[in-house]
Amino acid sequence: MSASTAQIAPGVLYLDLVSRCLLGLIYEDPAQDPWSAPSFDAKKRARGLDWPLRAHSMIGQMRMANLRAAVEHVLGNHIPGDLIETGVWRGGACILMRAILKAYDVTDRVVWVADSFEGLPPPDASRYPADAGDRHHTFMPLAVSIDEVKANFAKYGLLDGQVRFLKGWFKDTLPAAPIEHLAILRLDGDMYQSTIEALAALYHKVSPGGVIIVDDYGAVPGCRQAVHDFRAAHSIVAPIQDIDGIGVYWLKAQA
Ligand SMILES: C[S@@+](CC[C@H](N)C(=O)[O-])C[C@H]1O[C@@H](n2cnc3c(N)ncnc32)[C@H](O)[C@@H]1O
Repeated sequence: MSASTAQIAPGVLYLDLVSRCLLGLIYEDPAQDPWSAPSFDAKKRARGLDWPLRAHSMIGQMRMANLRAAVEHVLGNHIPGDLIETGVWRGGACILMRAILKAYDVTDRVVWVADSFEGLPPPDASRYPADAGDRHHTFMPLAVSIDEVKANFAKYGLLDGQVRFLKGWFKDTLPAAPIEHLAILRLDGDMYQSTIEALAALYHKVSPGGVIIVDDYGAVPGCRQAVHDFRAAHSIVAPIQDIDGIGVYWLKAQA
């Protein structure tokens, strides 16, 4: 038996396939959100504009590719720290992060999975006027239990000691989370409150050169306002980079 000489790195192909599975591209998983037809629309799935019926992430191909590039950036440039997503739904973006660590045989970083696992909080408009009238808490498909998310990790063979769960409202879990440093801070909590609470609790833990990703910047005005308020309060001037017209990211400046 002779081995072929040239081969595309299996890790690259593995991550391509995991991404496609996480987004429901393989079996053309239909949409289930109130605004979409109950069918598969490749254009919408590319930009994360629908909520898949069964797939494990709703962030779409472009934001999924951005997340992969961000994690590969921090690994390649030895930016220290763990990886976190605040707002995980069925866990798909976190599953991708764990898969990337596995593909690169990284054993000294953890993926933190932070969510209420009960959906979004009702708006607290007296403290956060930008959230007044927000209806995300009424959308039951956004409430996914921790057992279901753990089971999803297990389906990919990725539920292990490098995945840690922070269950509860961000205001209660994030300030006390036993996280030392972060290389990736991915915010996907939709609302002003959920975005500002995550930034307030975690931004100072992001290493210089680390990546801050905001999933809902272009979709939810309150989220965008939280980003602007936090950046202004902390004199953050690193340019905000567009991903797909909705998600954005910036690199934390070197000290
Ligand atoms: C849009 S979904 C996240 C999508 C996910 N990142 C993906 O890959 O498909 C928003 C999630 O944020 C969570 N969430 C929003 N605000 C929260 C808060 N203040 N505390 C805890 N969880 C919150 C919800 O429970 C929900 O799972």
